[in-house]
Amino acid sequence: MAKKILVIHGPNLDLLGEREVEIYGKLTLDQINDELNKLAKELGAELSIVQLAGEGEIVKKIGSAKKEGFAALLINPAGYTHYSVAIRDAVAAVSIPTVEVHLSNIYAREEFRHTSVIAAVASGQVSGFGLNSYLLGLRAAVGLAK
Ligand code: DQA
Repeated sequence: MAKKILVIHGPNLDLLGEREVEIYGKLTLDQINDELNKLAKELGAELSIVQLAGEGEIVKKIGSAKKEGFAALLINPAGYTHYSVAIRDAVAAVSIPTVEVHLSNIYAREEFRHTSVIAAVASGQVSGFGLNSYLLGLRAAVGLAK
């Protein structure tokens, strides 16, 4: 049976392709999702992909992930990465492996982006490789999924 993986894109990632292209690249979110779905097929995984702008919506989605049968979570928390204790607590509360990804290298940018409050409760983090952050993160998530 295919491993079910939940993919959450946080706020403003729906604007990829037009948003700060020198930092985030020219790919749109749909193109990233197509590549994720292609790789998932190869890896024997099935993805459910959502883009959510609200912190509460993300918290709720993570909270119901186990009940909904997801075996792992791949998340780009976007701006929430740096301060959302509520998303961190949701990841800690749901006992499924979580991989945090970022298109840009958050450690090479403004100081306020150097901290991820999510990283310590995630299984791991991939940052700085554009589309490949997501693809590497997906490989890790599938590997961790039971
Ligand atoms: C991001 C990095 C965050 O600092 C930023 O707020 C984002 C995108 C990334 O993918 O590089 O929205 O998570």
